[in-house]
Amino acid sequence: EPSMEEKEEEIEVLDPEKFPGGHLTIYYGSQTGTAESFAQDLEREGEEHGFKVHIVDLEETDEDPRAALLDPSKQDAHGKSKAVFLMSTYGEGEPTDNAAGFVRFLKEKLSDDEEEKKDDMDPSKTFDGLEYAVFGLGNRQYEHFNAMGKFIDASVAQVGGMRIIPIGIGDDDDDLEGDFESWKDGKFWPAMKSKYVGNAAVADTKHDKLPECHYSVEYLNGAASPDKISLDDVHLSSKHYFTAVDCPVTLRRELRSPADDGSTLHVEIDISKGGNEVKYQTADNLGILPVNSNADVERIATALNYDLGAYFRLKAAKGHEHKHNALFPTPCSVQECLARYCDLSGPPRRSELKLLAAYAKDPITKQALMRLSSKDGKAEYKEKILDAKMGIVDIISKLCPSIEMPLEHFISVCPRLHPRYYTISSSSSIHPKSIHATVSVLSEKRQDGSEFKGVCTNYLADLVDNGKIRAFVRESTFRLPTDASKPIIMIGPGTGIAPMHALLQERSYQKSKEKKNVGSNILYFGCKKRDLDFIYSDELNAFEKEGILTEMHLAFSREQSEKVYVQHLLAKNAKDTWKLIDEQGAYIYVCGAVKMGQDVSEALRKIIGQHGDRTTTDAKAYLDDMASNGRFIQELWA
Ligand code: 2AM
Repeated sequence: EPSMEEKEEEIEVLDPEKFPGGHLTIYYGSQTGTAESFAQDLEREGEEHGFKVHIVDLEETDEDPRAALLDPSKQDAHGKSKAVFLMSTYGEGEPTDNAAGFVRFLKEKLSDDEEEKKDDMDPSKTFDGLEYAVFGLGNRQYEHFNAMGKFIDASVAQVGGMRIIPIGIGDDDDDLEGDFESWKDGKFWPAMKSKYVGNAAVADTKHDKLPECHYSVEYLNGAASPDKISLDDVHLSSKHYFTAVDCPVTLRRELRSPADDGSTLHVEIDISKGGNEVKYQTADNLGILPVNSNADVERIATALNYDLGAYFRLKAAKGHEHKHNALFPTPCSVQECLARYCDLSGPPRRSELKLLAAYAKDPITKQALMRLSSKDGKAEYKEKILDAKMGIVDIISKLCPSIEMPLEHFISVCPRLHPRYYTISSSSSIHPKSIHATVSVLSEKRQDGSEFKGVCTNYLADLVDNGKIRAFVRESTFRLPTDASKPIIMIGPGTGIAPMHALLQERSYQKSKEKKNVGSNILYFGCKKRDLDFIYSDELNAFEKEGILTEMHLAFSREQSEKVYVQHLLAKNAKDTWKLIDEQGAYIYVCGAVKMGQDVSEALRKIIGQHGDRTTTDAKAYLDDMASNGRFIQELWA
């Protein structure tokens, strides 16, 4: 324990002319990097508003959130700490992985249960001295829209924090970045200025220079070409890439008919090799670290004049040491850096386009990028970047060839390539040594005739036989009833069939190997046409023959003039469904697109209302209750 004196020495004394607002710490709860990149926007802008901004991954506060958030080295003269929480909501209202610990901490503090409390402190004074603002990132398509942002906003106040301004809410279904921009420019910074800066003049830091770079690159010359980096080093260096293990892909099988214009692959990976055994449970999620195509890597290297064979070591630039999370393991080759760690094909956000503009040598290009990144350019940005699916690689190599940027600047501006998640379609009891996934390969023609290819699905499709991928497992909510005799109703059209396939395998194992009394298994599956995209039809027919699949309801949406969807079939079987739910205690599983999920929930509420003789409100409460008891489980994607 450092003594008081030593502690005081650690306190960074800020230049009051440069930083009249003092310290400001941004905490983010991020799953795919958006909240984290919003944090970086605030950091970049901090100085011009008079604040010294620090960014902290919420997970880093887990050990002692109170001590972390009230860190004396980041307080002002009156002992106040200033914080912003940028909170993404995930899935059905859950926190992101890195925020789970902090959310648990707050729930414990707010709990009435004395057992939960870890110390004698008055919980309502936990964050005494903390002044804070919250911006929530969510998607209105989900029922629990922005649940985490709202929870943090309310509960930090309940445990003693002082709210600076009302919560800002962002909707990814509409214009998340625009919502954030309006909040920060229209509400947040003005409030911060009037509360903490007042009339103090902020030193002018706007010079016509390149954006600040968060990294420094040190090239290693000739002889020192290092061996391949071990996975242990990967694990140590960055938590984004930490738990992944190399696994060979042992099988890929096309599930759709050749007559269909799309492709869905059944993929099997071997998890028994290489010492680092991967463990999973039936219908968990598989995280895969994608690799960019060689074509994209070469295009960006050619456009920016990088030597793909060169090796370098990456360090955080001075003052950005806290960014170790966004780093990746080096020394590595430029090739590996661009292939594994840079998101080349995802559309950049408007604020990233603005950064890119600074590197354009040609004034017309520079102007075009500035326009696209401005508030007035939103419609054009949507049309030319989002809808046209233009990634950084397309922008730099096709649209704006006059861009020049040193590697460390590119690494700083380009977002990291994040893992992609798939629902596992195998049972861990039957396949303990392999994981199966169902992958719909994403490929779309752009208006100009070129092709947009989804990075991870095409990486899997194009991999050599037995090629290795980096993968890890994340727990999912799809769990079978502990009492196997309960019936289950599974609703999973399209690739939403994946977890249902896994559950059916597991129920078959429970019945034949564990000799359990297994309840009925009822499946609702939907696709375009029987002879086009009825994926896993052989397996499902076999489950039916075996007697494990009790009922199979098939909705072929395009075999007749009007659409037939899974929820229509469910509505037809309303009476039986109600009996299964209410009399037999059935569990319901839903997987697939969010819109489908909403329609299915609506159909279920109608069934509960009509056959359970309940008002709309009570029917909703009934279904919500099933969800909180783990009897109604959804995994939906936008
Ligand atoms: P469609 O493409 O013909 O509209 C798998 O993608 C299946 O889900 C397809 O048959 C698709 O039909 C169908 N689908 C599309 N929207 C849906 C919705 N809102 N609810 C249920 N099924 C839907």
